[in-house]
Amino acid sequence: MGARPKITVVGAGNVGASVAQYTVEKELGDVVLVDVLDGIPQGKALDLAQAGPVHGYDSTLVGSNGYDETADSDIVVITAGLARKPGMSRDDLLFKNAEIVGSVVDEVVKRSPSSILVLVTNPLDAMVQLAWKRSGFPPNRVVGMAGILDSARFRTFIARELNVSVENVTAFVLGGHGDTMVPLPRYSTVAGIPITELLPKDKVEALVKRTAGGGGEIVALLKSGSAYYAPAAATVEMVEAILKDKKKILPCAAYLDGQYGVKGLYVGVPVKLGRSGVEQVIEIKLTAEEQAGLNKSAASVRELVEKLKL
Ligand code: NAI
Ligand code: 2OP
Repeated sequence: MGARPKITVVGAGNVGASVAQYTVEKELGDVVLVDVLDGIPQGKALDLAQAGPVHGYDSTLVGSNGYDETADSDIVVITAGLARKPGMSRDDLLFKNAEIVGSVVDEVVKRSPSSILVLVTNPLDAMVQLAWKRSGFPPNRVVGMAGILDSARFRTFIARELNVSVENVTAFVLGGHGDTMVPLPRYSTVAGIPITELLPKDKVEALVKRTAGGGGEIVALLKSGSAYYAPAAATVEMVEAILKDKKKILPCAAYLDGQYGVKGLYVGVPVKLGRSGVEQVIEIKLTAEEQAGLNKSAASVRELVEKLKL
């Protein structure tokens, strides 16, 4: 490995492999792919390396079943765990994935004590809280991916409804990654115009509902797993914002210490992402109804976190 940034991706399954793919396609750095399955991370890393000459990237890719190759990573993306199957809620995954994420965090922090951890494994908000506690890292260096994905889903549905470019659509989603997420239509815009001025209330409500169930919609279609292209794209937007110190405002699961009336808990909020990780939590004024939605969402995250007895 050379002078390029180093990104470790733990879990070489659907999301992890796609994160590795988009990361090298954007030439963000060298990638180490880790998984417990013998041959899978090695095979996928070699296959992706062999796409390099065609795509024109020089990133080094290494696959491993151990952690020595991950030493001195700048960013560690954690996707290891089980994915949702039909009929299974994100919460069903809680205990199994807590065990997996806890052991992964132990291995990576020993070897990359200055890294930034980006969590993807579900149930997302609880897994970030666990990773933060377990790592002993300051909260700005542990962050979770969910809001970019949830708002990308909302943006897709809005663009389709209005027959406009997805590039013109911005969307805002707060709260935990789950059925209680809080999409904010009045802060969701098409070329700066709030969608509440472009669509009737019932239409907006239908899009909000579809967004909140967006993960489940894909699970029901795929039958054998959950979404991974959009989740990986969202994760790589975070990796890029951090490595390039972009100071990009993105919805992420971040540690709240009183902001939005929530204390000591990871929940999805807009943050500024740069080379130090979460550099600022952006607080916006909420209506009473929006705040009530966020409170409800934070309460359901707290309920899960309490089950983990961290
Ligand atoms: P997958 O099943 O394709 O891949 C998971 C990989 O983790 C497997 O290859 C498995 O062997 C590996 N793994 C299991 N235990 C491990 C360990 N101890 N160490 C290293 N690797 C281990 O699942 P997929 O689709 O990649 O999803 C991964 C996780 O991400 C799931 O928990 C899923 O629910 C979550 N997810 C979260 C999203 C979000 O918005 N935060 C979006 C999409 C997925
Ligand atoms: C999703 O929203 C499964 O959390 C994952 O697609």
